[in-house]
Formats: sequence, structure tokens, C-alpha cells
Amino acid sequence: MEARVDTTRLQRLARSYAETAVFYAAIDLELFTHVSRGADSIVALAQAMGTSELNAERLVTVTLAQGLLERDDDGSLRNAADCEKFMVKDSDRYAGAWMTFTRHEVPDWFDLTARLRDATPPTELGMYADLTVERARKYHRATYSIGMGAARRFCRQVDLSGRRRMLDLGGGSGAYSINAVQAFDGLEAVVLDLPPVVVVTQEYIDENDVADRVTTHGADFVNDPLPTGCDVAVMASNLPIYSAKNIAKVVQKTFDVLEPGGEMHLVGETLHADGIGPLDAALWGMAEVNYGDHGSGGRSHSVTECIEYFEAAGFVDVENTDFVAGTLTRTFGRKP
Ligand SMILES: C[S@@+](CC[C@H](N)C(=O)[O-])C[C@H]1O[C@@H](n2cnc3c(N)ncnc32)[C@H](O)[C@@H]1O
Repeated sequence: MEARVDTTRLQRLARSYAETAVFYAAIDLELFTHVSRGADSIVALAQAMGTSELNAERLVTVTLAQGLLERDDDGSLRNAADCEKFMVKDSDRYAGAWMTFTRHEVPDWFDLTARLRDATPPTELGMYADLTVERARKYHRATYSIGMGAARRFCRQVDLSGRRRMLDLGGGSGAYSINAVQAFDGLEAVVLDLPPVVVVTQEYIDENDVADRVTTHGADFVNDPLPTGCDVAVMASNLPIYSAKNIAKVVQKTFDVLEPGGEMHLVGETLHADGIGPLDAALWGMAEVNYGDHGSGGRSHSVTECIEYFEAAGFVDVENTDFVAGTLTRTFGRKP
């Protein structure tokens, strides 16, 4: 018998913005922090958050339904494991800055129809075109909060023992370089990012006490020459920012400057090989329509395309593997 077709999924989609709004409110009201500190009932939460009991109950009801909170048999509330690990303020794993990283874009998303109809050619650099040091500082407070964990994962997945110098393309806070030099003896790194960003990168390098092994290089990786003398290159979380032409160009430029035998890793939100999903990777590509006056040239790239960029550049032993399942993949290859 054919499955009955109904409107449930469509109705949910039509209102899924409400889920995001509730999550933002929970972050603002520090719901997860209060739960972690022992406010495990609606009455206690209302008091801790400064809301009415009715509104605390509404918030708890939705976050229970979202699986962000859980309820024990005795009725007491606790955080789900991810909220306890990443959403409790003052923890060094707190990722609130990253979770609200794109919150200022909400009005643009609700103007998406007009943006999609805009036929004016996009600016290549999109959101990065008019970056200031202050904006870069705010931006990288968010990327650092999530990038350090990603970088630790990278260092667990990729053995860089014996490598001498890493080129960290669009390295932002320097999270990958900082972790890599800490994990691998003898490795040095150079973080290449736009000139206003490397001012901020230097602050993270100093804070992590790795200035003797990590340097910065202010440049545009699409249009400027890349530093030579590196035997490993990483480009993380830049993929949907650029068109296929420019990603292929950066991969080629990287191949050209790497030492023979060197390796490149491209970590990013990637569509499956057939280009269908995951939704998150598709939405990062769509987000690019919001940047600059007329969007950027960026879009989502599939696993198949990433492998093609590497092979066309001349890399061998090219593979793609999950980096964070369902979100990020890692494409890598070796220069003969
Ligand atoms: C989302 S952040 C990722 C930062 C870092 N790789 C990480 O994973 O934590 C993207 C970075 O790419 C940089 N970027 C974008 N376009 C660039 C370009 N053309 N040249 C150099 N850096 C660029 C941005 O300034 C930003 O720091």
C-alpha cells in the first residue's frame, strides 16, 4: 500500500524558524548554564532566568521536545550531553559565540526571495570584502570557540610527524596551527589570512604561547602569491565561501608551492558525491547569497568536485573522508 501523503513535513518546515528562535532565547537566558548549576525544575529555572513560571515552562517544553533538555524519572531536568559539554558558560568548551555566529543574518534570510532575484554579479570576497580588525576579532571569537575542537580532531586524524612547516590557508584564529605545533614536535606553521585577520591571529598565537613556532602572513589566497617552503597545507572551513573556479585555483596554487612529497588537506562543509545533501552543507552555500551587497560567488561543493580539484592540480592518492560525520569532510592528497 502506498504511504499516505500529508502536510506534516511541510508544516514543520514552514515554522522551523521558531526552533532557531527558541534556541537563541535559551542561550540568552542561559538556560543550559542554570540547569548545569542545579536549577532542575521549572520553578528554579524561572527564578534563575528571571522569567515567569509560565514562560519557563514554555521554554522547557520546547527544549525537551528538541532533545536539548532531558527529564529524569523523578521529574528533575538535566542537559543533554552536547548542551552540558558546549552550552554551559564559563566552560572552556563553551560554544555560545559560534551558535549565535550568524544570528545577525536572520533579517537577510527572511529577505531571501529578493536576494535570489538579484541579478547583479556578486562580489568575489562577499562578507570579507570590507573586513576591519574589530570585525575580524568578533568573528574569530566565534570561530575559535569551535575551531579549537575541530583542530584537535584534525591532529588526532592526521599524523604530521616528520613534517616541518604547515601552511594554514584562511587560518583565522590559527586554531589548526596552534594545535598542530603543540601536537607534533619540530613542526612550524604559517597562518595565511587577510591582513586585518592576521592581527587577530597574532593575539591567539600569543595567548597560546606558540609565537616561536607559528607566524602569520597577511594575503589573499586567491589573488596573491602563497608562501613557499611548506610540506603540508590545510585549508579549513572556507569551502562554500568560493566558486568552483576559485577553489580549484587555490588548490592548484597550493600544489605549486608545496614541497615535493607534501600533502594538502581541505576540510569543509561538503555535499555528498551525488550533490544531494547533507542539508547543512547545502545551506552554507546558500548563505553566501546574503554576503556583500549582492552576495558572494560562493556555493556548496560536492565530494566529487573536491576530488576533481585535487586531481586536476596534480595531487595523487586523493581521498575524501568524513571529518565530522554529517557536516564536514576532509579531502586530501599528496604532491608526487
Ligand atoms: C570560517 S573561517 C575559518 C578559520 C579557520 N580555518 C578555522 O577553521 O578555524 C574562514 C577564514 O578564511 C579567511 N579567508 C576568506 N577568504 C580569504 C582569502 N581570499 N584569503 C585569505 N583568507 C581568506 C577568512 O578571513 C577567515 O579567517
